[in-house]
Amino acid sequence: MKPSKNRLQIQDKYFVPYLSEQEMQQRVQELGKQIATDYSDKKPLLLCILNGSFVFAADLVRTMDTVCQVSFLKYSSYVKDKSSEEAKDLLGIKGLNEELKDRHLIVVEDIVDTGTTMNKLLKELDTHHPASIEIATCLFKPDALKFDISPKYVAFSIPNHFVIGYGLDYDNYGRHLSGIYIVDED
Ligand code: IMP
Repeated sequence: MKPSKNRLQIQDKYFVPYLSEQEMQQRVQELGKQIATDYSDKKPLLLCILNGSFVFAADLVRTMDTVCQVSFLKYSSYVKDKSSEEAKDLLGIKGLNEELKDRHLIVVEDIVDTGTTMNKLLKELDTHHPASIEIATCLFKPDALKFDISPKYVAFSIPNHFVIGYGLDYDNYGRHLSGIYIVDED
């Protein structure tokens, strides 16, 4: 086992720094500005997926200098560090106050991994006849993707390894970390 002062232990796993707080802040700011420009006259509705997107969403919307609305949905498809086939709808579309028809929707996710959650959600959103739907995700693991999904706004594409921090968790720990940490298998 390599000694490292930055190595973190969370439950039975070890993690090492991968993307710093500064890198996250800078890239999220760029993304927010790009989204604000693209949606300048569209009054988008941002649908942020809980729990993992809460940090990304909070940073992203505060860099978006445009008229927009923000709401939250809750799905869960991860048990500890394994993706399950089923994305469970915990706080769904029916609970939203906003009408989705003819709206420009931006789904805000922490990470698109297998795409199970996003695939289910996009299909469901589509039945409400929005004007458009795009995905803004903090992280994207292209090598893990199992569905035909292409997120338009991606802060970082990363390799197919488990990560925590900046809202992402392991067994609900690690969400508070300001940068991204990657699992250390050594
Ligand atoms: P998917 O349905 O497989 O794309 O996974 C979606 C959800 O699984 C994300 O919104 C995360 O909450 C969780 N997830 C996927 N990969 C990771 C990871 O590397 N670390 C922490 N959570 C993850």
